[in-house]
Amino acid sequence: MKAAIINAKGQSPVYGEFEAPTASQDRILIDVKASALSHLSKVRSQGNHYSSDTVFPKVAGAEGVGVTADGQRVYFFLPEAPYGALAEQALVRADHIVQIPNELDDITAAAIANPGMSGWAALVERAQLQRNETVLINGATGTSGRLAVQIAKHLGAKKVIATGRNEQELQELLVLGADAVVPFQLDGTDEFGAKKFEEALKNQFLKGIDVVVDYLWGESAKTIMKAVDQSVVDGHSVRFVNCGASSRQETIEIPSSILRSTAIQLMGSGLGSLPMPKLLDTIRSVFEAVKPAKLQVHTNVVSLSSIESVWDKAPGKPRVVFTII
Ligand SMILES: NC(=O)c1ccc[n+]([C@@H]2O[C@H](COP(=O)([O-])OP(=O)(O)OC[C@H]3O[C@@H](n4cnc5c(N)ncnc54)[C@H](OP(=O)(O)O)[C@@H]3O)[C@@H](O)[C@H]2O)c1
Repeated sequence: MKAAIINAKGQSPVYGEFEAPTASQDRILIDVKASALSHLSKVRSQGNHYSSDTVFPKVAGAEGVGVTADGQRVYFFLPEAPYGALAEQALVRADHIVQIPNELDDITAAAIANPGMSGWAALVERAQLQRNETVLINGATGTSGRLAVQIAKHLGAKKVIATGRNEQELQELLVLGADAVVPFQLDGTDEFGAKKFEEALKNQFLKGIDVVVDYLWGESAKTIMKAVDQSVVDGHSVRFVNCGASSRQETIEIPSSILRSTAIQLMGSGLGSLPMPKLLDTIRSVFEAVKPAKLQVHTNVVSLSSIESVWDKAPGKPRVVFTII
């Protein structure tokens, strides 16, 4: 079968022929239709994610959309190595699939599952968001952050504050549901960037803050914690959920006093912080919300045969979706 093949850890895929999988008692075959180039799919396929397996050569792709032997249209997650989602067929655990509602097309389902899951899981399962709470999404201009803004509003957040470095895209988020935007400049071009961001956050937090969903980590996450420390009333719980580290600053120093002088709760959301059935339920909830919440995700659809020219160069947004057949 045609497939995107990764020959060794850290390598990019090549387009070629790979032996097709065979179904077994608890592993089903999927005829793959589409698979998105999510960060998880990319990093895990190359063996660089904390959940990666070490089987090489293998087919790339950690998730996709396809059709089962009995004709169900499904999203599937974490196919069995050495088979992956970026091939004509994938081999998948029978309980690693989610039915796709009729009104949802293959491309949108493939593109929205992982980034949509991140916001839904962080807000509902980890932060236990309540209606009328105030939410801040840090890194709101990324594919996952944009969806988290929309999902927070759909789930009944009273106010959604969107933060990020991209002022123009933050303005677009006001149309998608954000109630306030706070841009920051933390790349060293403005020596007072961190102070300005902290002051702007404090102005927002004095009016209330309950949940932070963070996709960036690094300096911006640290500044948000400092602003919480300086503006939230004693004992008020602020749930801070980290989902990623797009800033590429994996490590930050947090003064212990922040943990004592606030009721901040630090946690993460991702593979491993939720049991698999719960994670798949979350994706089901996202799929069901696409129509009523009018969730939007920008996509760039390309054929699997162009994998070699797209894999390394494609930005995370618009989200690349490979079509297989
Ligand atoms: N835990 C989970 O369940 C889960 C699920 C999905 C994704 N993630 C993770 O979440 C993160 C974001 O994913 P995504 O899908 O939104 O990716 P994406 O679509 O590629 O967006 C990344 C965003 O990060 C911003 N960014 C990059 N470097 C930055 C910096 N130094 N300062 C400020 N902003 C910066 C970019 O800003 P610009 O707008 O300026 O380009 C872009 O908006 C990734 O780390 C991903 O692995 C986690």
